[in-house]
Amino acid sequence: MTFDIRGFRSALGCFPTGIAVMTAASPAADAAPGSSAGLGEASHIGITVNSFTSVSLDPPLVLWCIDRRSRRYPFFANAPGFTISILAAGHRAVSARLAGPGEHSLDGIALMATELGPPALADALAIFECTRESVQDAGDHAILLGRVQRFAQHDGAGAPLVYFQGKYGALAQS
Ligand SMILES: Cc1cc2nc3c(=O)[nH]c(=O)nc-3n(C[C@H](O)[C@H](O)[C@H](O)COP(=O)(O)O)c2cc1C
Repeated sequence: MTFDIRGFRSALGCFPTGIAVMTAASPAADAAPGSSAGLGEASHIGITVNSFTSVSLDPPLVLWCIDRRSRRYPFFANAPGFTISILAAGHRAVSARLAGPGEHSLDGIALMATELGPPALADALAIFECTRESVQDAGDHAILLGRVQRFAQHDGAGAPLVYFQGKYGALAQS
């Protein structure tokens, strides 16, 4: 039996989601002479995802999935932790940039320092600072389970960025 992967992908896109950016330390940049280990724009990388899911309240666990063919996969799979930023409607350009090949650095993106290290995006609706709990292979992706160590919600950040059927959108006002 053949499986219609394109149709499968399209059908999955009928599930509307928010969008998150995951950030982690970049080992290559950390090794570079003179690189800063703090809110250094060059020492961290980001990736746009819509596979973010809450898992458990106690203990506080969340997950997301990363394509194992992504050039960013080894960084995230081996990082001790990652920061999750839930994007607001105004983050559309940042989302598109961090979904593009080769645009992994956070250079020029407005950031916010975090306690664990990987910076959050400024004006995110919410942020979650996670340590890596586990990485499990799941077909062509891997499931990254994170334990939330700290979080913050920014009520003034406005409406979320939404993704539906391959397009960016916004919540309809009722
Ligand atoms: C809205 C949106 C959601 C995405 N969600 C995921 C995701 O959950 N997991 C993933 O691995 N890639 C996801 N991607 C693709 C990545 O952002 C990125 O483009 C892809 O991994 C290419 O990576 P590479 O340049 O590191 O090879 C998404 C892209 C978009 C635009």
